[in-house]
Amino acid sequence: MDAAAFKRWLKATMGLDAEAVGPGVVERAIAGRMRALGVAEADAYWRRLQAQPLEQQELIEAVVVPETWFFRGVEAFDALALAFASRLSEPGNAPLRLLSLPCSTGEEPYTLAMALLDAGWPPQRLRIDAYDISERALAKAGHAVYGANSFRGGDLRYRDRHFRALGHGRWQLSDAVRGCVRLHRANVLAIDFLPEAASFDAVFCRNLLIYFDQDTQVRAVGVLARALAAGGLLFVGAAETGLLLSLGYASAQIPMAAAFRNQRSAPVPAPAPQQPWRAPALAPLPAAAARPRPFAAVATALAARPAPASPPAPAQAADDSLPQARRLADNGDFAQAERLCQAHLRAHGPNAEALCLLGVIYGADGADARAEDAFRKALYLQPDHAESLMHLALLLDAKGDAAGARLMRQRAARHRDRNP
Ligand SMILES: C[S@@+](CC[C@H](N)C(=O)[O-])C[C@H]1O[C@@H](n2cnc3c(N)ncnc32)[C@H](O)[C@@H]1O
Repeated sequence: MDAAAFKRWLKATMGLDAEAVGPGVVERAIAGRMRALGVAEADAYWRRLQAQPLEQQELIEAVVVPETWFFRGVEAFDALALAFASRLSEPGNAPLRLLSLPCSTGEEPYTLAMALLDAGWPPQRLRIDAYDISERALAKAGHAVYGANSFRGGDLRYRDRHFRALGHGRWQLSDAVRGCVRLHRANVLAIDFLPEAASFDAVFCRNLLIYFDQDTQVRAVGVLARALAAGGLLFVGAAETGLLLSLGYASAQIPMAAAFRNQRSAPVPAPAPQQPWRAPALAPLPAAAARPRPFAAVATALAARPAPASPPAPAQAADDSLPQARRLADNGDFAQAERLCQAHLRAHGPNAEALCLLGVIYGADGADARAEDAFRKALYLQPDHAESLMHLALLLDAKGDAAGARLMRQRAARHRDRNP
């Protein structure tokens, strides 16, 4: 039995695309499980895997990437609190219903609770359902004791408000926050995983789709979009906005929050599980204007565009090809947007603005290596280019290079301090 059969099993069972988690990860997980069981032959391990659900869970535990931290992508939590602020003062006590999938070790759903409690929501009006496939991650979420790795970034004031120090760098989350979150084990691809249709005000599905192949991404988005109430918000990871755009979800303008608003009035019908899911937009894209737009994004990383530090050069000021390229990218027409960007670079020579936009376009189209290259070129030309620093940080985060991402954020912060 070769590794390919195990990879096929993982893809069919949990959606994992072995290429997306990195070379050798699945092979090492299998070798680790065989060692733990004292099984020498891959065939014998395969038989065991097929026969024992407990072993299936063990292999899943060995390949999942539980990387997460509190207030990861803080803009999303700010956007959420802002989006529902007016509900707080409305008559009636209707709860805000949120879904976090995957929740990993709990940092994301607990951050939702902290952000909303801090925004004035009473705990009895918050219903947060959090799901993950990993029992180990959920057990840690249930304990709610966290170490330094869960607290990243400069502003940790929330920790003083919501945690109690246990010593030795460990922190216990308060019961008030824990009480807002219900933890469940679920596989988003399981046929019986169908959260109640149209019942959630916001769905957080961040940093999961990057580990799936295209068909699986479409299927997972379909399941979660169906759970969203009319007017609700779907948040994805920054590196996942391209997928939503390619499915015809239009982007809009809250910097960095990567959220899409559900504008339909009726729930999306449940998918027929036997049929393979294919989004119409993943077939050759029709003209952007003709595509259906069930969602209007209230934010995407694409829309994150701080004002340029200096006025554009005169030659560029007269040329609207970059704004036009942005508009095309916002509408999901990445090929045409790239062509315009390239033409701009040929006409005006290398410049950070155009290279950064090219990086955003590549990133939204799923070409992360090319995106990274474009951001690095922009930073070579203009080392303090804030937008490139920010996008590169997100990209490095998404590929697990936390140290590289931190470095980019520090550079951006230094630049902000020098130019308040
Ligand atoms: C990188 S974490 C993301 C956590 C959090 N959403 C965030 O952005 O910080 C990915 C999580 O996806 C979970 N996962 C992977 N495949 C899944 C599936 N098919 N169904 C549910 N959860 C899954 C893993 O167990 C892991 O905890």
